[in-house]
Amino acid sequence: MKALRIHAYGGPEVLRIDQIPRPRPAAGEALVRVAATSFNPADISLRSGAFATMLPLDLPHTMGMDLAGTIVGDAGPDFAHGDPVVAFVPPNLAGAAADYVAVPVALLAHAPTTVPLIEAAALPSAGTTAWQALFEHGRLAGRQRVLVNGAGSVVGGLAVQLAFAAGAMVDGFAGPMSVDRVRGYGAVQVFDYTAMTVGQAEPAAYDLVVNLAPTPATELAPLVRTSGRLVTATTDIEARDERIAAVRMAAHPSREVLRKLVAAVDAGRLRLHVAGARPLADARDVHVAREPGKTLLLP
Ligand SMILES: NC(=O)c1ccc[n+]([C@@H]2O[C@H](COP(=O)([O-])OP(=O)(O)OC[C@H]3O[C@@H](n4cnc5c(N)ncnc54)[C@H](OP(=O)(O)O)[C@@H]3O)[C@@H](O)[C@H]2O)c1
Repeated sequence: MKALRIHAYGGPEVLRIDQIPRPRPAAGEALVRVAATSFNPADISLRSGAFATMLPLDLPHTMGMDLAGTIVGDAGPDFAHGDPVVAFVPPNLAGAAADYVAVPVALLAHAPTTVPLIEAAALPSAGTTAWQALFEHGRLAGRQRVLVNGAGSVVGGLAVQLAFAAGAMVDGFAGPMSVDRVRGYGAVQVFDYTAMTVGQAEPAAYDLVVNLAPTPATELAPLVRTSGRLVTATTDIEARDERIAAVRMAAHPSREVLRKLVAAVDAGRLRLHVAGARPLADARDVHVAREPGKTLLLP
């Protein structure tokens, strides 16, 4: 089968399509025929070695943290041959940028039924990040005020929708091309970051600020009300602000979260922002010329 792998850390040129044997699922794993994976910004850091100290890869490594595909053969009581499934495959395992992947059954969820299976590959890691930012690290509950900085990003768009569905009053910072889309997700106020800086937003106004943009945490902390929370998925917390709780998060796979995300998609509460679909062979281009929205990668 073919697999998009890296044999060494480096630029986009280290991405290559290899012919390798189809994986044999170990105990507790399922074999999945891949319909699609998707590109994540973290793929650039995984490929370049920027994450290597924190997260050394077992090289050669098959890329692809998002999986949408169909079960092949026996996969335990919850899944039958041919079932459409999704998973967030952590980067310490061989990924889903291949014809087939062996995945721990504990990471699998049934795919949404209301979107094409390939588009479901836009959901697992981005949706899990948005969910964990809001509800685990952010402890969002009820009618709180939330600011999503980077609301135009894939994770940001999902975070706005999930927070809105949970009853929050959501504001966002997004680029001019994304402002209307983010409003359509239920945001109350969407600030154009090319016209206004985060420093010009209302101070101490938000119960929760989620950072999905390259904005320093020190610029966002003043927007959080006393005893509120700042969750950043991008920049480090360089200085503590004693008024607030600040968390630098790293998303981790969770079947429970994935099931909730799938249910939200099927209930029409969560729309996926798909930029397009490209063959795995285009991965080098996808790593260089990034489009707004999720780029699906098809084996
Ligand atoms: N820590 C974790 O566990 C974790 C997990 C997933 C993702 N992340 C990180 O979260 C970020 C978002 O991920 P993603 O997959 O959603 O990426 P993405 O869709 O590629 O995000 C890119 C978008 O971010 C927006 N953006 C860029 N600079 C901005 C700024 N200064 N202010 C506001 N928005 C800005 C732009 O949208 P517009 O200009 O169109 O608004 C841009 O299109 C990435 O940095 C990613 O590495 C972290």
